[in-house]
Amino acid sequence: MNSNKEVNIYSTEIDRNLLNKLLIFPYPAIFKDLKEILHKIINDNVYINGKFKVKLYIGDTRDFLENWKGEKFDIVYQDAFSPQKSPKLWSVEYFRLIRKVMSYDGILTTYSTSTPVRLSLYENGFKIYSYKHEKVREGTIASLRNINSLLEIDMEQKRILSSKGEPIRD
Ligand SMILES: C[S@@+](CC[C@H](N)C(=O)[O-])C[C@H]1O[C@@H](n2cnc3c(N)ncnc32)[C@H](O)[C@@H]1O
Repeated sequence: MNSNKEVNIYSTEIDRNLLNKLLIFPYPAIFKDLKEILHKIINDNVYINGKFKVKLYIGDTRDFLENWKGEKFDIVYQDAFSPQKSPKLWSVEYFRLIRKVMSYDGILTTYSTSTPVRLSLYENGFKIYSYKHEKVREGTIASLRNINSLLEIDMEQKRILSSKGEPIRD
């Protein structure tokens, strides 16, 4: 891996009020440095430190994905509450947009282990892996290519057994 490679991190947030609240939140002194970074990201929508660049898109993630024209993403951190709370960010249609912007070698990580979420990814051609680590509860890694070091879930079997659930649709 080329350690001089630029690392570009894109984050999306639809709730402007939440961002405003973070600007006045009384962080403990120990967070001083992080608070300055966070305020810069919220105020300028960008923070650069050496090879690291963080960009904030304020708006709907789906608009961001539909309009994305940049390089393909290597890692997607899927941290969107839950399918019950934000169904638009866990559906087959959503993961179709994610697939379009991901590199073939990329991975998507999520804390969700729900079969409907995994089926929504699987329907878009993702292979589904269980990820477990000491002291951390099980999560999911989805990838377009094989990852031999991880345990692949037999999604075809889950798809056939509809008692396991259906993919989530818009
Ligand atoms: C679980 S939180 C993620 C928090 C963030 N990853 C962090 O660690 O601070 C989910 C966030 O998604 C935002 N959200 C919900 N629907 C969205 C959408 N359609 N587009 C962008 N952000 C959305 C919510 O306002 C909420 O702040």
